[in-house]
Amino acid sequence: MKGVDIQINGLSKSYEKAGHRVDILDGADLSMAAGESLAVIGASGSGKSTFMQLLGLLDAPGAGTIHFDGRDTASLGATEADRWRNRNIGFIFQSHHLLSDHTALSNVMIPVRLAGGKPEVARTRAERLLTAVGLQERMEHLPAELSGGEQQRVAIARALVMGPRLVLADEPTGNLDPKTAVGVFDLLLELNRQLGSNLIVVTHSMDLASRFPRRLSLVSGRFVEA
Ligand SMILES: Nc1ncnc2c1ncn2[C@@H]1O[C@H](COP(=O)(O)OP(=O)(O)OP(=O)(O)O)[C@@H](O)[C@H]1O
Ligand SMILES: [Mg+2]
Repeated sequence: MKGVDIQINGLSKSYEKAGHRVDILDGADLSMAAGESLAVIGASGSGKSTFMQLLGLLDAPGAGTIHFDGRDTASLGATEADRWRNRNIGFIFQSHHLLSDHTALSNVMIPVRLAGGKPEVARTRAERLLTAVGLQERMEHLPAELSGGEQQRVAIARALVMGPRLVLADEPTGNLDPKTAVGVFDLLLELNRQLGSNLIVVTHSMDLASRFPRRLSLVSGRFVEA
């Protein structure tokens, strides 16, 4: 697996509210080499989640372009964009969205099964990822039988099980205590190094952001190297 070369130019997004336009992203530029990792910080409401939605091809910008490996993502049709996302992007959110009636193993197997993978292939890959995140002894536990940090590690295993080239994590440790959060961040960085994928993590914590080789601050709709 390898990462993806990302070029973002003049990215803009605004919302219409009560008859007037609010610019959230306003000409944001970003270059990211394949395999790079970076943290995005910024005030609440500055547009961090909006940016992650655009980068994840879940929403379209009002203006500007996103190129993946030199290809303008706007040229992808809806079906192609869905396929690219499913194959290449792993999402991790603040709340883990694990299925409560499925074991850790079963939760991690789901993306492989949805992509048409055989049960034994799904099981082997899920077991490998759960072992990588240190949960080899917790595979048959239901989410309710896991700690918050363990649940988030299952979510990380699930996000990585398809071998994504780009991992997008939006405040992945927002619900965890500081010590557990450090563990989850270090795990994400370590997996990123091992797998060669790109990693973008949004966090409110300067302390957690400081673990990243590169930090961007979202200010007035644009990125500033921090
Ligand atoms: N669908 C929408 N319609 C109108 N306004 C929206 C919509 N989605 C987001 N916004 C507005 O865009 C701004 C940026 O939201 P966003 O969720 O990207 O911020 P954020 O930086 O992720 O904040 P936080 O740190 O609190 O998660 C907010 O002011 C929000 O109210
Ligand atoms: Mg947000």
